[in-house]
Amino acid sequence: MKICVVYDSEGGHTAALAASIAEGAQMVEGAEVFLQSVEEADVYQLPEMDAIIWGSPGHFGTISSGLKTWIDKLGYLWAEGKLINKVGAVFCTTATEHGGIESTMLNLITPMLHQGMVIVGLPGNIPENATYGSYYGVGVTCPIDSDEVLSENGAALGRALGERVALITRRFAQVI
Ligand SMILES: Cc1cc2nc3c(=O)[nH]c(=O)nc-3n(C[C@H](O)[C@H](O)[C@H](O)COP(=O)(O)O)c2cc1C
Repeated sequence: MKICVVYDSEGGHTAALAASIAEGAQMVEGAEVFLQSVEEADVYQLPEMDAIIWGSPGHFGTISSGLKTWIDKLGYLWAEGKLINKVGAVFCTTATEHGGIESTMLNLITPMLHQGMVIVGLPGNIPENATYGSYYGVGVTCPIDSDEVLSENGAALGRALGERVALITRRFAQVI
């Protein structure tokens, strides 16, 4: 099964979260994981993927222009229904705790639904998600005055999302 993780990142925080998601997905047997920035990711390869996970920094509560520009290249895939039934999940970082993490993730999910993708979130029974996290995907606060690019808790949440997407994609591939 092929899983791609696509991210936009100016300062490295979202890139680090994307890497932890890829690490979690890679832990699942049979997963072939592609970790790519929006500059690297080729939209023409998406129909070969079984799962697509994308994320960006939250910019004023919504998707960064870098990732949105990339998503807007997916019109022909939408017109031809090429991403229908692909598994999808999202992630985001912001500088502040109430800086629009969940609104950004909902905005990241919307184009996936338009594409006919099947969204995977994170349930509350995942320990790292119980007290700090989101049901919509992985959203991590990365304070700009911190030396840490990504907290260990944030990385653990990223791995949990990647692993969950890979496990669900593997099971989904057996029935569809
Ligand atoms: C144009 C712009 C708008 C932003 N808006 C917000 C915001 O409303 N709330 C917030 O907490 N952080 C905001 N940020 C900060 C980024 O979301 C945050 O620093 C993020 O972790 C950066 O990710 P990166 O290092 O992957 O680029 C904004 C940053 C930019 C450049």
